[in-house]
Amino acid sequence: MSNAYEAAYRRSLENPESFWGEAARHIHWEKTWDKVLDDTRKPLYRWFPGAVCNTAYNALDRHVEAGRDAWPALIYDSPVTDTIETYTYKELRDAVALFAGALARLGVEKGDRVVIYMPMVPETAIAMLACARLGAVHSVVFGGFAPRELATRIDDAKPKVIVSASCGIEIRRIVRYKPLLDEAIEIARHKPERCVILQRPMETASLKEGRDLEWNQALPGAKPHPCVPVAATDPLYILYTSGITGAPKGVVRDNGGHMVALDWTMRAVYGMEPGDVFWAASDVGWVVGHSYIVYAPLLAGCATVLYEGKPVGTPDAGAFWRVISQHNVKALFTAPTAFRAIKREDPNARFLELYNMPNFKYLFLAGERTDPDTLAWAQNHLKVPVIDHWWQTETGWAIAANCMGLHVFPVKPGSPAKPVPGWNVRVLDPDGLPVPPGQTGAIAVKLPLPPGALPTLWQNDEGYIRSYLTQFPDYYTTGDAGYMDEDGYVYVMARTDDIINVAGHRLSTGAMEEILSSHPDVAECAVVGVADTLKGEVPLGFLVLKAGVRRPGAEIEKEVVQMVRDRIGPVAAFKTAMVVARLPKTRSGKILRGTMKKIADNVEYKMPATIDDPEILKEIEESLVSIGYSTARKD
Ligand code: COA
Ligand code: AMP
Repeated sequence: MSNAYEAAYRRSLENPESFWGEAARHIHWEKTWDKVLDDTRKPLYRWFPGAVCNTAYNALDRHVEAGRDAWPALIYDSPVTDTIETYTYKELRDAVALFAGALARLGVEKGDRVVIYMPMVPETAIAMLACARLGAVHSVVFGGFAPRELATRIDDAKPKVIVSASCGIEIRRIVRYKPLLDEAIEIARHKPERCVILQRPMETASLKEGRDLEWNQALPGAKPHPCVPVAATDPLYILYTSGITGAPKGVVRDNGGHMVALDWTMRAVYGMEPGDVFWAASDVGWVVGHSYIVYAPLLAGCATVLYEGKPVGTPDAGAFWRVISQHNVKALFTAPTAFRAIKREDPNARFLELYNMPNFKYLFLAGERTDPDTLAWAQNHLKVPVIDHWWQTETGWAIAANCMGLHVFPVKPGSPAKPVPGWNVRVLDPDGLPVPPGQTGAIAVKLPLPPGALPTLWQNDEGYIRSYLTQFPDYYTTGDAGYMDEDGYVYVMARTDDIINVAGHRLSTGAMEEILSSHPDVAECAVVGVADTLKGEVPLGFLVLKAGVRRPGAEIEKEVVQMVRDRIGPVAAFKTAMVVARLPKTRSGKILRGTMKKIADNVEYKMPATIDDPEILKEIEESLVSIGYSTARKD
């Protein structure tokens, strides 16, 4: 007899149309689909063509109309401003409808883009849902990005309106958003018609006449806007993520498939019921925030916690337990780095003793591999299932997980368990052939991807096909490498490209190299992600200076660190660069970044057979030792 997971998994692959057609019954459709899956434009697929719907209606109005109007929908918990506010479903629906009315008065219509550059405040979720209500396409940009990154996104999305705030709060530091926004608009070729600025009490932004207006000025006189019907295949949002070049990719999410998939995951993956409290301790600027702070919990009739704080320092390492206890959270979803931060400050989890968490059932971790130490610490102290699950901005929801609502498998440390129904995961060799269990290869997903996964890149079908669907025909290339074991557990071990994962944030070392090499004194450079006990990985830069440069290396190192902070943003956490005499290369001139990373991480490496000059590795080791790395030559 197969268990519920096995039955669901098999059905989802053998008959995806029946599987997802059935899941779609939980959603309200203005008009149902002509077909569950359109595969007439392979390798591009579309879910639920012909269907008409509205995501905000399903997230809010549907619950209000079903008598859940007084149920909590959004709990804003902000230790940095000492605020706790709960919006019921009706209150949130009304706030969203009113702001949608305000956007409509500014000319925002179905299909228009709205960029949202905001901190973790309820107005961010309200702005996102207001766009969904209007059928407008939002593009949220994480607050830790610098103006240049914001400008790139503005130029690609071409928003009619930008919604922002006067500031965000990073523990005790006020981050003034408005000057960053002004600079981004200055740099961008595309100019938005209007900007709506939320003035927060701790910082008043100055406004540009004719272009900017305050959130509070936008509301009076606005009429609550009804939900605008959209095609299931119409875009709901664009979310930019690091690609292998400096230019970010605009991942598109549609309306219909996205709702069906996310709603289904709340039950199947997270084991949640309507009325439960779900907390994704992430940021709305990331995909986790889109899917599991805003859309999925509301679609499923749960209450979602929007937390403006950190795991430590707001005010202490008991912050997460306080929130879980105070709001009766059933499941917490965060990144392992948050737990490493807590573990570092409170290794024996003394703060846990201060709180009762009777309703707390699961901890879900994602964003990076959960290291076995962090897993064991969380399991021992929390005494609930600790579920590592693997996903990407592109996929929008988990590719591999231990599905709490289907069947609980034993946890194997280091593995996010099994492919979730809908995901036909294969490990392939360079020729695209499946490898046997235990053997490492490229992790790919056989097409079609399930609903909710990206149907394309923003106005760039060709780029989508080139980036993801070309390496292995008929497969989506995840960019991750790893293996599957005899029991079908997936192990995600490394990226196959230049992407690194810093505190659960995805960054491109290639983009950092572009910045370093633009320094006038730098001849060539390399950036690698090196192991870090808190953030998992941090970038480390190597610089070779141009011949004849007489300035002290330390000065140039400092300058490039500042350049990365200014151009990508503080989130890059690029704090160390070092001048070296030469970079190790193959005879054909390829920089041996992987070997440099291994040396910095003090792990075993083989002398590459194609190395041009082995002596250079010794020089790199010596340079690393001089800045405190404990590298030992292991050949
Ligand atoms: N706006 C402006 N700046 C921001 C920002 C935002 N929204 N978010 C982060 N930053 C800044 C930080 O202040 C920090 O700046 P600094 O270099 O001046 O100190 C820098 O970006 C790096 O931030 P972060 O990666 O958050 O590191 P941290 O040292 O401040 O905190 C952790 C470390 C582990 C506590 C933190 O990364 C964390 O809570 N992570 C949770 C995981 C998470 O949210 N993952 C997302 C995917 S699930
Ligand atoms: P992002 O698009 O920012 O969500 O980052 C996606 C990338 O993070 C993946 O391609 C993986 O490299 C990594 N990642 C996310 N979750 C996990 C996990 N549970 N285990 C291993 N790697 C993960």
